[in-house]
Amino acid sequence: MYTNPQLWELTLDQWPAAVWELLESAANGFDEPFRTPAVASTGPDGPDIRTVILREVHSPQRRALFYTDARSPKVEQMASHNAVTWMFYDPARRLQVRARGTASLHGDDLLAKRCWEDCSEANRRNYGGLQVPGSALEELSKEVSMGAPDGRENFLVVATAFSRLDVLLLGDQSNRRAGLAWDGSIWTAGWLSP
Ligand SMILES: Cc1cc2nc3c(=O)[nH]c(=O)nc-3n(C[C@H](O)[C@H](O)[C@H](O)COP(=O)(O)O)c2cc1C
Repeated sequence: MYTNPQLWELTLDQWPAAVWELLESAANGFDEPFRTPAVASTGPDGPDIRTVILREVHSPQRRALFYTDARSPKVEQMASHNAVTWMFYDPARRLQVRARGTASLHGDDLLAKRCWEDCSEANRRNYGGLQVPGSALEELSKEVSMGAPDGRENFLVVATAFSRLDVLLLGDQSNRRAGLAWDGSIWTAGWLSP
């Protein structure tokens, strides 16, 4: 997998495949910083952002998935405004990728069903809490923070189809930035001023 010097060798037309390779590797591994991106959405009071776990990447569909609780505020935000931006940063590679796209919400379809079946029991517990995520608590209790393993109805898969990628690579002497855009059939790419 790429190191920072190897990334500097990439030509413009090699960048789209390289980004998708890095995302796929992060989704399939546990140690990669790209596995915990920040996802920004538009809330009623302006931008909102949070860390998520990158669960799957489907490069042919330009798509990345994370799981969430259907009751969490981000879901209503994305239902109202489906434009989202993901931000990945890898300090070892000194690489930032910002990925813009449209989010689709999957609670009760084949994708959600398959993802739920893939979830470990420990992960399923994240969706079984009785309290709505973000609601005020009277007191802390173990039952609130760790729900029952039957939270299927609260389990939601958020899939984002990316159409713009902004890549920033930091170096000792200079920095390099590329803008990649999906034109409907291929990724086009151009260098940008960092
Ligand atoms: C390392 C890490 C991974 C996280 N992964 C997820 C995740 O995959 N899905 C999720 O909904 N929240 C995840 N969270 C919690 C969110 O960052 C956020 O606090 C929570 O989802 C509430 O967000 P909201 O109020 O914007 O809906 C994670 C937090 C951390 C620190």
